[in-house]
Amino acid sequence: MYVSFHGHSVVKIKTGDFTILIDPFISGNGLTDLIAENEKPNVILLTHGHNDHVGDTVAIAKANDSLVIAPFELAEYLEWQGVRTHGMHIGGAYQFEFGKVKFTQAFHGSSYVTEKNEIIYTGMPAGILFSAEGKTIYHAGDTALFGDMKLIGERHPIDLAFLPIGDNFTMGIEDAAYAVELLKPQAVVPIHYNTFPPIKQDPNDFKELVKHSNVHIWEAGDGTEM
Ligand code: NI
Ligand code: MN
Repeated sequence: MYVSFHGHSVVKIKTGDFTILIDPFISGNGLTDLIAENEKPNVILLTHGHNDHVGDTVAIAKANDSLVIAPFELAEYLEWQGVRTHGMHIGGAYQFEFGKVKFTQAFHGSSYVTEKNEIIYTGMPAGILFSAEGKTIYHAGDTALFGDMKLIGERHPIDLAFLPIGDNFTMGIEDAAYAVELLKPQAVVPIHYNTFPPIKQDPNDFKELVKHSNVHIWEAGDGTEM
């Protein structure tokens, strides 16, 4: 399995013959190295409905017949737009042929702003546990710090965690460092920072606070074999 980071909250996983994109916000993402037209994922995983996470999902999914896996209300909304979806919900896991997906809680909002400036509420926001090839990846989505991160870490030993550190909309650096203590991942990659002015952060400050996990500060395009 090869896992890479592509700016903001975009993560790509390659396992077997499958390519999976998490939260493919590419158009308008000043920090990504990806070009939406070049991405041909088999699967798109979405944590919540905010536009900086759904991003280019509809265009990419329609062009490639990608399966979009998302919290139920968001999946329904995307299905109405002609996208092939699989709805799930928090606490539920499903074994797909490319790996196991489980949705976890996240403390945040979940809505989609349309081109007509309507806000469509898209259910609960989530985090995602993805397991394949004997490894488990946790993408926290957008979330505040919460105590049940301890439960997530106890129930699902995490090899690699992607945690937001941007503050303002999500955990900031100090809360994210505390989240690492609860989740106990082998390694952690900070995400969701420096994309917009209110979430400007120095990830080295996060690295200094984390004592018991390896912190990888990845630029867009960096990744690891695991
Ligand atoms: Ni959000
Ligand atoms: Mn966000």
